[in-house]
Amino acid sequence: MDSSTRFRKGAAGGLGLALAGLALGLTAAAHRSPAPRGIESTARPGVEGEARAGYVFQPLPYAYDALEPHIDAQTMEIHYDRHHRAYFRNLASAAEGTDWEGVPLEQLFARMSEFPESVRNNGGGHYNHTLFWEVMSPDGGGAPPRELAARIDRDFGSFEAFREQFERAAMTRFGSGWAWLSVDAEGRLFVSSTANQDNPLMDVVEQRGVPILGLDVWEHAYYLNYQNRRGSYVEAFWNVVNWPRVLELLRAAGH
Ligand SMILES: [Fe+2]
Repeated sequence: MDSSTRFRKGAAGGLGLALAGLALGLTAAAHRSPAPRGIESTARPGVEGEARAGYVFQPLPYAYDALEPHIDAQTMEIHYDRHHRAYFRNLASAAEGTDWEGVPLEQLFARMSEFPESVRNNGGGHYNHTLFWEVMSPDGGGAPPRELAARIDRDFGSFEAFREQFERAAMTRFGSGWAWLSVDAEGRLFVSSTANQDNPLMDVVEQRGVPILGLDVWEHAYYLNYQNRRGSYVEAFWNVVNWPRVLELLRAAGH
């Protein structure tokens, strides 16, 4: 890695990205705070968080079976404890001893094209899954709060039109990837989809913005329960969306 990829720790990122990172608790600052949320207090085996190289693997905010019947407990356990944890550990291992150790992921994403593909895959994998767990809840579903619903109406025409666009993004993503609702630099909401573990914060994607809702459409997210029926999984997702959290992320992005 040449000197152009060097980072000044704490340097500001564009697009209000640092704020988004703080909201997600993913940054080095969150790691330095006196008590990273739940990291020492989680007692359930298999769901402990951990912190390494300035990055935080947060405990799952609910039990593995909390989102049933929409997402089954076994899928949640494998997805969180094996897939996500592996992304986190691979990211931490890649970061340790480098000049970007502990640099907020949003800042790395803004210069993703300068990094090896493994950092892109594992950094994205860690960030995307952290967001994914947070935008779901056993008390989720229903309609968005009024403030968010008004923004969706303004930018998509109606909630139904938004939902249709989002589902199309999820269904037409070939192979593995994500569907997103994001806010751009002008404060407009938009739907997009990205391949593999990319996300709209990265300088390698077409449409850039701050993601506030993400849906994992890798087969590992649904195959045990839904087999190849991605459509059924996408439909079930609406029953667990944590809309108040999505609104918080929109506000945290500065819009
Ligand atoms: Fe996943």
